[in-house]
Amino acid sequence: MFKKLQQHWGVNGLQVLLILITFALGGSLCGYLGRKILSYFTIDSKAFWVIIYIVLVTLLWPLCVLLISIPLGQFSFFKNYVGKLMRKLKKTSPLTPLLKERENSKIIEEIMETNKINIAIFASGQGSNAEKIIEYFTYSSKATIALIVSNNAKAGVLQIAKDNNIDTLIINKEDFFNGDGCLSALKKHNIHFIALAGFLWKIPSSLISSYQKKIINIHPALLPKYGGKGMYGHFVHEAVIAAKETESGISIHYVDEIYDHGEIIFQATCAVNAMDTAETLATKIHALEHLHYSAVIDSVLPNQR
Ligand code: GRF
Repeated sequence: MFKKLQQHWGVNGLQVLLILITFALGGSLCGYLGRKILSYFTIDSKAFWVIIYIVLVTLLWPLCVLLISIPLGQFSFFKNYVGKLMRKLKKTSPLTPLLKERENSKIIEEIMETNKINIAIFASGQGSNAEKIIEYFTYSSKATIALIVSNNAKAGVLQIAKDNNIDTLIINKEDFFNGDGCLSALKKHNIHFIALAGFLWKIPSSLISSYQKKIINIHPALLPKYGGKGMYGHFVHEAVIAAKETESGISIHYVDEIYDHGEIIFQATCAVNAMDTAETLATKIHALEHLHYSAVIDSVLPNQR
């Protein structure tokens, strides 16, 4: 019996003796203290007294054995012993299914989070489109905005990123065009899809080939008209008005090596009337962009990361 305990606890003969003494003394101390504490209260029902006594003794017992184990030099053994006992109790506690369920749902959430498509938004300006996209994907189970990339350290979009707790990356011309086009940073952030929202630099071909059909842009006119180098912001709207167009709109397209040239995914139109100025037209166009861009992004996201 002694030998068996020695093996079971992984201790020597003397320790087994000291441990048994600790159990005995700890148990007695616990019983004594339990009765002493209860004597301060008047409990009429015998059955109730027994229940309270059992509960009290259960709570007191670990403290008593730990206390006795100190002078007998067996504290670390009892610390482990009590710890194991607590863990066992926790496992068998009726709360366990609930805790397990909570744990499981946490794991599921994490898996969903890690399965989400990470989108990077590239923007150079105020970022009203970026803001709408962030808003749209906040509760999406499919994708999340993981990074905002900008070539302009003063761009309003960076404040939007900060407000939404989204990582940002400021790029410089040299690294972007002569380096890897920020590919390594995108990989580091595990980016699967890129949406340009008012980004004024051309996308280098290295990036285009790494993100085939995974980079899209929004243009504030009905392409193929009023696109190309230098055609951005108010220049577009001024050109539309100067040409006395009666209709303008937005174009969402895949990005290729040529400015505003890739395959068109979606267009929406608005009327241009004689009273319109570049500013009033810009307002109409922005409204169309905010209405459609996020949903179009959602519709062309890859099914898998
Ligand atoms: C939008 O009009 C978009 O079409 C163009 O740049 C503008 C960006 O606006 N590519 P915002 O910064 O999102 O407000």
